[in-house]
Amino acid sequence: MNQVAEIKLEGRVYTFPVVVGTEQEKAIDIRELRNQTGYITLDDGYANTGSCRSAITFIDGEKGILRYRGIPIEELAEQSSFIEVSYLLIMGRLPTRAELRRFSDLLTQNQMLHEDMKFHFEGFPPNAHPMAILSAMINAAGCYYPELLRRDISDHFETLAARLLSQVRTIAAFAYRKSRGLPFIYPKTQYKYAANFLHMMFSHPSEDCELKPEAVRALDLLFLLHADHEQNCSTSTVRMVASSGANLFACAAAGVCALWGPLHGGANQAVIEMLEEIHRSGDDGRKFLEQVKNKSSGRRLMGFGHRVYKNYDPRARIIKRQCDELLAKLGRTDPLLDIAKRLEEAALQDEYFIERKLYPNVDFYSGIIMRALGIPVNMFPVIFAIGRMPGWIAHYREVAEDPQGRIYRPRQVYVGPTLQHYVPIDQRT
Ligand code: CMC
Repeated sequence: MNQVAEIKLEGRVYTFPVVVGTEQEKAIDIRELRNQTGYITLDDGYANTGSCRSAITFIDGEKGILRYRGIPIEELAEQSSFIEVSYLLIMGRLPTRAELRRFSDLLTQNQMLHEDMKFHFEGFPPNAHPMAILSAMINAAGCYYPELLRRDISDHFETLAARLLSQVRTIAAFAYRKSRGLPFIYPKTQYKYAANFLHMMFSHPSEDCELKPEAVRALDLLFLLHADHEQNCSTSTVRMVASSGANLFACAAAGVCALWGPLHGGANQAVIEMLEEIHRSGDDGRKFLEQVKNKSSGRRLMGFGHRVYKNYDPRARIIKRQCDELLAKLGRTDPLLDIAKRLEEAALQDEYFIERKLYPNVDFYSGIIMRALGIPVNMFPVIFAIGRMPGWIAHYREVAEDPQGRIYRPRQVYVGPTLQHYVPIDQRT
Protein backbone atom coordinates (compact mmCIF):
# COMPACT_ATOMS: atom_id res chain seq x y z
CA MET A 1 0.00 0.00 0.00
CA ASN A 2 1.22 3.50 -0.83
CA GLN A 3 2.37 5.33 2.28
CA VAL A 4 0.86 8.72 3.05
CA ALA A 5 1.83 11.50 5.46
CA GLU A 6 -0.76 13.17 7.66
CA ILE A 7 -0.50 16.79 8.67
CA LYS A 8 -2.82 18.16 11.32
CA LEU A 9 -3.54 21.88 11.05
CA GLU A 10 -6.15 23.85 12.91
CA GLY A 11 -7.94 20.65 13.89
CA ARG A 12 -8.12 19.22 10.37
CA VAL A 13 -6.08 16.29 9.06
CA TYR A 14 -4.68 16.45 5.55
CA THR A 15 -2.95 13.59 3.78
CA PHE A 16 -0.09 13.84 1.34
CA PRO A 17 1.56 11.13 -0.75
CA VAL A 18 4.98 9.79 0.18
CA VAL A 19 7.44 9.44 -2.68
CA VAL A 20 10.10 6.73 -2.41
CA GLY A 21 13.27 6.88 -4.52
CA THR A 22 15.11 3.88 -5.95
CA GLU A 23 17.50 3.96 -2.99
CA GLN A 24 14.54 4.10 -0.55
CA GLU A 25 14.92 7.81 0.17
CA LYS A 26 11.55 9.05 1.33
CA ALA A 27 9.91 12.42 0.72
CA ILE A 28 6.52 13.93 1.45
CA ASP A 29 5.02 15.28 -1.75
CA ILE A 30 3.66 18.64 -0.59
CA ARG A 31 2.79 20.09 -3.99
CA GLU A 32 -0.88 20.36 -2.95
CA LEU A 33 -0.09 21.69 0.53
CA ARG A 34 -0.86 25.35 -0.13
CA ASN A 35 -3.91 24.61 -2.24
CA GLN A 36 -5.38 22.43 0.46
CA THR A 37 -4.26 24.17 3.65
CA GLY A 38 -3.13 27.72 2.79
CA TYR A 39 0.23 26.92 4.39
CA ILE A 40 3.66 26.67 2.78
CA THR A 41 6.79 25.03 4.15
CA LEU A 42 9.72 27.09 5.42
CA ASP A 43 13.17 25.59 4.98
CA ASP A 44 15.99 28.15 5.12
CA GLY A 45 18.93 26.88 3.09
CA TYR A 46 16.75 24.07 1.66
CA ALA A 47 18.33 21.42 3.90
CA ASN A 48 15.07 19.43 3.95
CA THR A 49 13.75 20.30 0.53
CA GLY A 50 13.82 17.89 -2.37
CA SER A 51 13.71 20.33 -5.29
CA CYS A 52 13.29 17.67 -7.96
CA ARG A 53 13.43 13.99 -8.83
CA SER A 54 16.77 13.25 -10.45
CA ALA A 55 18.29 10.09 -11.90
CA ILE A 56 21.88 11.35 -12.21
CA THR A 57 23.76 11.07 -8.92
CA PHE A 58 23.12 9.31 -5.63
CA ILE A 59 24.71 10.37 -2.34
CA ASP A 60 24.28 8.74 1.05
CA GLY A 61 25.93 11.35 3.24
CA GLU A 62 25.67 9.29 6.43
CA LYS A 63 27.52 6.35 4.88
CA GLY A 64 29.85 8.43 2.66
CA ILE A 65 28.53 6.93 -0.61
CA LEU A 66 28.66 8.69 -3.99
CA ARG A 67 27.51 7.09 -7.25
CA TYR A 68 27.15 8.51 -10.76
CA ARG A 69 24.23 6.80 -12.53
CA GLY A 70 24.50 4.03 -9.93
CA ILE A 71 28.24 3.39 -10.36
CA PRO A 72 30.40 3.94 -7.24
CA ILE A 73 32.82 6.86 -7.52
CA GLU A 74 35.68 4.59 -6.41
CA GLU A 75 35.16 2.29 -9.44
CA LEU A 76 34.99 5.23 -11.81
CA ALA A 77 38.09 6.84 -10.30
CA GLU A 78 39.98 3.59 -10.70
CA GLN A 79 38.84 2.54 -14.16
CA SER A 80 37.24 5.37 -16.09
CA SER A 81 38.19 8.75 -17.51
CA PHE A 82 36.66 12.21 -17.29
CA ILE A 83 35.26 12.08 -20.82
CA GLU A 84 33.72 8.63 -20.36
CA VAL A 85 32.18 9.82 -17.08
CA SER A 86 30.90 12.95 -18.85
CA TYR A 87 29.14 10.74 -21.38
CA LEU A 88 27.75 8.60 -18.56
CA LEU A 89 26.31 11.61 -16.76
CA ILE A 90 24.98 13.43 -19.81
CA MET A 91 23.68 10.46 -21.81
CA GLY A 92 22.65 8.30 -18.86
CA ARG A 93 24.77 5.20 -19.50
CA LEU A 94 28.35 4.14 -20.20
CA PRO A 95 29.24 4.57 -23.88
CA THR A 96 30.22 1.75 -26.21
CA ARG A 97 33.69 2.08 -27.73
CA ALA A 98 32.18 3.62 -30.89
CA GLU A 99 30.05 6.07 -28.91
CA LEU A 100 33.02 7.17 -26.83
CA ARG A 101 35.09 7.68 -29.97
CA ARG A 102 32.31 9.75 -31.57
CA PHE A 103 31.88 11.86 -28.44
CA SER A 104 35.64 12.45 -28.17
CA ASP A 105 35.73 13.42 -31.86
CA LEU A 106 32.89 15.88 -31.26
CA LEU A 107 34.87 17.44 -28.41
CA THR A 108 37.90 17.79 -30.66
CA GLN A 109 35.87 19.28 -33.52
CA ASN A 110 34.42 21.87 -31.15
CA GLN A 111 37.44 22.81 -29.11
CA MET A 112 38.33 26.02 -30.97
CA LEU A 113 36.66 29.25 -29.97
CA HIS A 114 35.36 31.54 -32.68
CA GLU A 115 38.38 33.77 -33.53
CA ASP A 116 36.42 36.90 -32.60
CA MET A 117 36.16 35.59 -29.04
CA LYS A 118 39.80 36.48 -28.52
CA PHE A 119 38.88 40.18 -28.53
CA HIS A 120 36.45 39.72 -25.65
CA PHE A 121 39.36 38.76 -23.40
CA GLU A 122 40.89 42.19 -24.03
CA GLY A 123 38.09 43.86 -22.08
CA PHE A 124 39.11 42.40 -18.71
CA PRO A 125 41.61 44.10 -16.40
CA PRO A 126 44.81 42.10 -15.87
CA ASN A 127 43.91 41.17 -12.29
CA ALA A 128 40.36 39.99 -13.11
CA HIS A 129 39.51 36.75 -11.34
CA PRO A 130 39.41 33.92 -13.89
CA MET A 131 35.97 32.82 -12.59
CA ALA A 132 34.56 36.22 -13.67
CA ILE A 133 36.17 35.79 -17.08
CA LEU A 134 34.95 32.20 -17.34
CA SER A 135 31.36 33.03 -16.60
CA ALA A 136 31.28 36.04 -18.95
CA MET A 137 33.02 34.15 -21.73
CA ILE A 138 30.77 31.10 -21.55
CA ASN A 139 27.81 33.42 -22.01
CA ALA A 140 29.63 35.23 -24.82
CA ALA A 141 30.47 31.91 -26.51
CA GLY A 142 26.76 31.08 -26.52
CA CYS A 143 26.11 34.13 -28.69
CA TYR A 144 27.96 32.46 -31.55
CA TYR A 145 25.44 29.62 -31.74
CA PRO A 146 22.01 30.93 -32.71
CA GLU A 147 20.64 27.39 -32.63
CA LEU A 148 20.92 27.67 -28.83
CA LEU A 149 18.01 30.06 -28.88
CA ARG A 150 15.68 27.39 -30.25
CA ARG A 151 13.59 25.92 -27.48
CA ASP A 152 13.82 22.37 -28.83
CA ILE A 153 17.47 21.32 -29.00
CA SER A 154 16.89 17.57 -28.81
CA ASP A 155 18.24 16.86 -32.33
CA HIS A 156 21.63 18.49 -31.70
CA PHE A 157 21.97 18.27 -27.93
CA GLU A 158 25.04 16.01 -28.06
CA THR A 159 26.89 18.55 -30.23
CA LEU A 160 25.93 21.44 -27.96
CA ALA A 161 27.01 19.50 -24.89
CA ALA A 162 30.34 18.56 -26.49
CA ARG A 163 30.88 22.16 -27.59
CA LEU A 164 30.35 23.56 -24.11
CA LEU A 165 32.42 20.85 -22.43
CA SER A 166 35.26 21.34 -24.88
CA GLN A 167 35.21 25.13 -25.04
CA VAL A 168 35.04 25.68 -21.28
CA ARG A 169 38.53 24.18 -21.13
CA THR A 170 39.79 26.48 -23.92
CA ILE A 171 38.22 29.56 -22.31
CA ALA A 172 39.70 28.64 -18.92
CA ALA A 173 43.21 28.27 -20.32
CA PHE A 174 42.89 31.52 -22.32
CA ALA A 175 41.71 33.34 -19.17
CA TYR A 176 44.89 32.22 -17.42
CA ARG A 177 47.12 33.22 -20.37
CA LYS A 178 45.45 36.62 -20.51
CA SER A 179 45.99 37.17 -16.77
CA ARG A 180 49.71 36.51 -17.27
CA GLY A 181 50.04 38.59 -20.44
CA LEU A 182 50.99 35.44 -22.37
CA PRO A 183 49.98 34.60 -25.96
CA PHE A 184 47.07 32.18 -26.37
CA ILE A 185 48.00 28.58 -27.15
CA TYR A 186 45.49 26.73 -29.31
CA PRO A 187 44.37 23.19 -28.48
CA LYS A 188 45.91 20.29 -30.37
CA THR A 189 43.92 17.58 -32.09
CA GLN A 190 46.10 14.73 -30.90
CA TYR A 191 45.79 15.54 -27.18
CA LYS A 192 43.06 14.22 -24.95
CA TYR A 193 41.02 16.46 -22.67
CA ALA A 194 43.24 16.97 -19.62
CA ALA A 195 46.49 16.93 -21.63
CA ASN A 196 45.13 19.60 -23.96
CA PHE A 197 44.26 21.81 -21.00
CA LEU A 198 47.79 21.56 -19.58
CA HIS A 199 49.17 22.22 -23.07
CA MET A 200 47.06 25.38 -23.48
CA MET A 201 48.06 26.54 -20.00
CA PHE A 202 51.79 25.90 -20.09
CA SER A 203 53.16 25.58 -23.64
CA HIS A 204 54.84 28.45 -25.47
CA PRO A 205 54.32 29.28 -29.13
CA SER A 206 57.88 28.15 -29.82
CA GLU A 207 57.97 25.16 -27.49
CA ASP A 208 55.46 22.65 -26.18
CA CYS A 209 55.50 21.95 -22.46
CA GLU A 210 56.37 18.47 -21.26
CA LEU A 211 53.22 16.52 -20.46
CA LYS A 212 54.00 14.05 -17.72
CA PRO A 213 51.53 11.12 -17.84
CA GLU A 214 51.11 11.14 -14.05
CA ALA A 215 50.25 14.86 -14.12
CA VAL A 216 47.72 14.35 -16.93
CA ARG A 217 46.15 11.42 -15.08
CA ALA A 218 45.95 13.40 -11.81
CA LEU A 219 44.16 16.29 -13.53
CA ASP A 220 41.80 13.93 -15.35
CA LEU A 221 40.99 12.31 -11.99
CA LEU A 222 40.30 15.71 -10.39
CA PHE A 223 37.89 16.58 -13.20
CA LEU A 224 36.19 13.18 -12.84
CA LEU A 225 35.76 13.51 -9.08
CA HIS A 226 34.14 16.93 -9.48
CA ALA A 227 31.86 15.89 -12.34
CA ASP A 228 28.58 15.88 -10.41
CA HIS A 229 27.27 16.11 -6.89
CA GLU A 230 23.48 16.23 -7.20
CA GLN A 231 21.65 19.36 -5.94
CA ASN A 232 24.56 21.48 -4.70
CA CYS A 233 24.39 25.27 -4.87
CA SER A 234 25.74 25.69 -8.43
CA THR A 235 23.81 22.75 -9.88
CA SER A 236 20.62 23.98 -8.27
CA THR A 237 21.40 27.37 -9.84
CA VAL A 238 21.79 25.76 -13.25
CA ARG A 239 18.47 23.94 -12.80
CA MET A 240 16.78 27.10 -11.57
CA VAL A 241 17.95 29.11 -14.59
CA ALA A 242 17.15 26.22 -16.96
CA SER A 243 13.61 26.05 -15.60
CA SER A 244 12.93 29.50 -17.06
CA GLY A 245 13.82 28.20 -20.51
CA ALA A 246 17.22 29.94 -20.67
CA ASN A 247 19.80 28.34 -22.96
CA LEU A 248 22.50 25.86 -21.95
CA PHE A 249 25.38 28.35 -22.11
CA ALA A 250 23.50 30.95 -20.03
CA CYS A 251 22.72 28.29 -17.42
CA ALA A 252 26.35 27.16 -17.26
CA ALA A 253 27.52 30.79 -16.90
CA ALA A 254 25.16 31.16 -13.93
CA GLY A 255 26.51 27.91 -12.50
CA VAL A 256 30.06 29.32 -12.59
CA CYS A 257 28.96 32.38 -10.59
CA ALA A 258 27.30 30.22 -7.94
CA LEU A 259 30.34 27.97 -7.75
CA TRP A 260 32.74 30.86 -7.21
CA GLY A 261 31.80 31.51 -3.57
CA PRO A 262 34.22 30.35 -0.83
CA LEU A 263 31.58 28.14 0.77
CA HIS A 264 31.30 26.18 -2.48
CA GLY A 265 33.85 25.81 -5.33
CA GLY A 266 35.92 28.73 -4.10
CA ALA A 267 36.77 26.64 -1.02
CA ASN A 268 39.71 24.94 -2.75
CA GLN A 269 41.40 28.33 -3.17
CA ALA A 270 40.48 29.27 0.42
CA VAL A 271 42.01 26.01 1.74
CA ILE A 272 45.40 26.68 0.16
CA GLU A 273 45.35 30.29 1.35
CA MET A 274 44.55 29.01 4.86
CA LEU A 275 47.36 26.41 4.74
CA GLU A 276 49.81 29.02 3.45
CA GLU A 277 48.85 31.36 6.28
CA ILE A 278 49.37 28.61 8.87
CA HIS A 279 52.71 27.75 7.28
CA ARG A 280 53.87 31.38 7.25
CA SER A 281 52.91 31.86 10.90
CA GLY A 282 54.97 28.84 11.98
CA ASP A 283 51.88 27.30 13.65
CA ASP A 284 51.61 23.51 13.45
CA GLY A 285 47.86 23.93 13.03
CA ARG A 286 46.88 23.79 16.71
CA LYS A 287 46.52 27.54 17.17
CA PHE A 288 44.48 27.77 14.03
CA LEU A 289 42.07 25.05 15.20
CA GLU A 290 41.60 26.89 18.48
CA GLN A 291 40.67 30.01 16.50
CA VAL A 292 38.18 28.03 14.43
CA LYS A 293 36.50 26.63 17.53
CA ASN A 294 36.16 30.11 18.95
CA LYS A 295 33.08 31.18 17.02
CA SER A 296 33.78 34.88 17.53
CA SER A 297 36.88 34.58 15.31
CA GLY A 298 34.54 34.03 12.37
CA ARG A 299 37.02 31.51 10.96
CA ARG A 300 36.24 28.09 9.55
CA LEU A 301 38.43 25.15 8.80
CA MET A 302 38.09 25.45 5.05
CA GLY A 303 37.73 22.16 3.19
CA PHE A 304 35.92 20.65 6.18
CA GLY A 305 32.21 20.02 6.66
CA HIS A 306 29.48 19.38 4.19
CA ARG A 307 25.73 19.84 4.04
CA VAL A 308 25.16 16.23 2.98
CA TYR A 309 28.21 14.24 4.13
CA LYS A 310 28.20 13.49 7.82
CA ASN A 311 31.02 11.07 7.16
CA TYR A 312 34.29 11.16 5.21
CA ASP A 313 33.68 12.56 1.72
CA PRO A 314 34.67 9.64 -0.58
CA ARG A 315 36.20 12.09 -3.06
CA ALA A 316 38.49 13.51 -0.36
CA ARG A 317 39.73 10.01 0.44
CA ILE A 318 40.65 9.38 -3.22
CA ILE A 319 42.25 12.81 -3.62
CA LYS A 320 44.31 12.43 -0.45
CA ARG A 321 45.74 9.15 -1.75
CA GLN A 322 46.37 10.78 -5.14
CA CYS A 323 48.33 13.62 -3.45
CA ASP A 324 50.78 11.12 -1.98
CA GLU A 325 51.08 9.18 -5.23
CA LEU A 326 51.54 12.25 -7.43
CA LEU A 327 54.11 13.95 -5.20
CA ALA A 328 56.05 10.67 -4.94
CA LYS A 329 56.02 10.21 -8.73
CA LEU A 330 57.08 13.79 -9.33
CA GLY A 331 59.76 13.43 -6.64
CA ARG A 332 58.39 16.40 -4.68
CA THR A 333 57.29 17.27 -1.19
CA ASP A 334 54.86 19.96 -0.14
CA PRO A 335 54.90 21.36 3.40
CA LEU A 336 51.22 22.30 2.96
CA LEU A 337 50.32 18.60 2.57
CA ASP A 338 51.96 17.87 5.91
CA ILE A 339 50.05 20.73 7.55
CA ALA A 340 46.78 19.53 5.98
CA LYS A 341 47.32 15.99 7.26
CA ARG A 342 48.12 17.26 10.75
CA LEU A 343 45.05 19.48 10.74
CA GLU A 344 42.87 16.56 9.61
CA GLU A 345 44.26 14.25 12.28
CA ALA A 346 43.78 16.83 15.02
CA ALA A 347 40.29 17.81 13.85
CA LEU A 348 39.06 14.22 13.62
CA GLN A 349 40.01 13.70 17.28
CA ASP A 350 38.56 16.98 18.48
CA GLU A 351 35.17 17.05 20.18
CA TYR A 352 34.11 20.20 18.24
CA PHE A 353 34.46 18.44 14.88
CA ILE A 354 33.28 15.02 16.10
CA GLU A 355 30.09 16.45 17.58
CA ARG A 356 29.25 18.33 14.37
CA LYS A 357 30.33 15.45 12.12
CA LEU A 358 32.79 17.60 10.22
CA TYR A 359 35.14 15.67 7.91
CA PRO A 360 37.43 16.67 5.04
CA ASN A 361 35.48 17.42 1.87
CA VAL A 362 36.55 17.37 -1.79
CA ASP A 363 38.32 20.72 -1.46
CA PHE A 364 40.62 19.86 1.45
CA TYR A 365 43.34 18.09 -0.55
CA SER A 366 42.57 18.98 -4.18
CA GLY A 367 44.64 22.20 -4.05
CA ILE A 368 47.77 20.22 -3.18
CA ILE A 369 47.43 18.34 -6.48
CA MET A 370 46.77 21.54 -8.42
CA ARG A 371 49.84 23.22 -6.87
CA ALA A 372 51.94 20.24 -7.86
CA LEU A 373 50.67 20.66 -11.44
CA GLY A 374 51.72 24.32 -11.43
CA ILE A 375 48.16 25.65 -11.53
CA PRO A 376 47.92 29.04 -9.80
CA VAL A 377 45.64 29.34 -6.80
CA ASN A 378 43.06 31.65 -8.38
CA MET A 379 42.53 29.02 -11.11
CA PHE A 380 41.51 26.33 -8.59
CA PRO A 381 37.77 27.16 -8.71
CA VAL A 382 38.07 27.18 -12.51
CA ILE A 383 39.33 23.59 -12.42
CA PHE A 384 36.29 22.75 -10.28
CA ALA A 385 34.04 24.46 -12.85
CA ILE A 386 35.52 22.53 -15.78
CA GLY A 387 35.05 19.31 -13.85
CA ARG A 388 31.47 20.15 -12.86
CA MET A 389 30.43 20.99 -16.42
CA PRO A 390 29.13 17.51 -17.39
CA GLY A 391 27.02 17.47 -14.24
CA TRP A 392 25.52 20.86 -15.07
CA ILE A 393 24.84 19.72 -18.63
CA ALA A 394 23.15 16.53 -17.40
CA HIS A 395 20.99 18.50 -14.97
CA TYR A 396 20.16 21.08 -17.63
CA ARG A 397 19.00 18.24 -19.85
CA GLU A 398 16.88 16.69 -17.09
CA VAL A 399 15.09 20.02 -16.60
CA ALA A 400 14.77 20.87 -20.30
CA GLU A 401 13.39 17.44 -21.20
CA ASP A 402 10.95 17.10 -18.33
CA PRO A 403 7.49 17.11 -19.93
CA GLN A 404 5.95 18.16 -16.61
CA GLY A 405 8.64 20.74 -15.88
CA ARG A 406 7.56 24.03 -14.33
CA ILE A 407 9.52 27.18 -13.65
CA TYR A 408 11.33 26.99 -10.28
CA ARG A 409 9.68 29.60 -8.16
CA PRO A 410 9.87 29.20 -4.36
CA ARG A 411 7.65 31.14 -2.01
CA GLN A 412 8.60 33.06 1.12
CA VAL A 413 7.27 34.05 4.50
CA TYR A 414 7.08 37.83 4.34
CA VAL A 415 8.37 39.52 7.52
CA GLY A 416 8.56 43.15 6.30
CA PRO A 417 6.29 46.11 7.21
CA THR A 418 2.56 45.70 6.86
CA LEU A 419 0.65 48.21 4.74
CA GLN A 420 2.00 51.75 5.02
CA HIS A 421 1.56 54.72 2.71
CA TYR A 422 3.93 56.74 0.60
CA VAL A 423 5.19 59.90 2.34
CA PRO A 424 6.20 62.76 0.01
CA ILE A 425 9.90 63.62 0.46
CA ASP A 426 9.39 67.06 2.12
CA GLN A 427 7.10 65.51 4.77
CA ARG A 428 9.64 62.86 5.87
CA THR A 429 11.39 63.30 9.20
N1 CMC B 1 34.84 24.84 10.32
C1 CMC B 1 34.34 25.08 11.55
N2 CMC B 1 33.05 24.87 11.89
C2 CMC B 1 32.23 24.44 10.93
C3 CMC B 1 32.67 24.18 9.62
C4 CMC B 1 34.03 24.38 9.33
N3 CMC B 1 34.52 24.14 8.13
N4 CMC B 1 31.63 23.75 8.86
C5 CMC B 1 30.57 23.76 9.68
N5 CMC B 1 30.92 24.16 10.93
C6 CMC B 1 30.06 24.25 12.11
C7 CMC B 1 29.15 25.47 12.03
O1 CMC B 1 29.76 26.59 12.62
C8 CMC B 1 27.93 24.96 12.77
O2 CMC B 1 28.23 24.99 14.14
P1 CMC B 1 27.06 25.30 15.23
O3 CMC B 1 26.10 24.15 15.10
O4 CMC B 1 27.77 25.39 16.52
O5 CMC B 1 26.45 26.61 14.79
C9 CMC B 1 27.85 23.49 12.36
O6 CMC B 1 29.21 23.11 12.07
C10 CMC B 1 26.96 23.23 11.15
O7 CMC B 1 27.43 24.05 10.08
P2 CMC B 1 26.51 24.79 9.03
O8 CMC B 1 27.23 26.00 8.54
O9 CMC B 1 25.14 24.95 9.58
O10 CMC B 1 26.47 23.68 7.89
P3 CMC B 1 25.98 23.90 6.40
O11 CMC B 1 25.48 22.57 5.98
O12 CMC B 1 25.07 25.05 6.30
O13 CMC B 1 27.33 24.28 5.63
C11 CMC B 1 29.39 24.10 4.54
C12 CMC B 1 28.09 23.39 4.92
C13 CMC B 1 30.17 23.22 3.56
C14 CMC B 1 29.08 25.43 3.84
C15 CMC B 1 30.24 24.34 5.83
O14 CMC B 1 30.59 23.10 6.40
C16 CMC B 1 31.49 25.18 5.56
O15 CMC B 1 31.42 26.40 5.58
N6 CMC B 1 32.65 24.51 5.28
C17 CMC B 1 33.83 25.25 4.91
C18 CMC B 1 33.78 25.66 3.44
C19 CMC B 1 33.98 24.47 2.53
O16 CMC B 1 34.88 23.67 2.73
N7 CMC B 1 33.16 24.39 1.48
C20 CMC B 1 33.24 23.32 0.48
C21 CMC B 1 32.06 22.41 0.53
S1 CMC B 1 32.29 20.85 -0.34
C22 CMC B 1 32.43 21.24 -2.02
C23 CMC B 1 31.37 22.11 -2.54
O17 CMC B 1 30.18 21.80 -2.48
O18 CMC B 1 31.72 23.14 -3.13
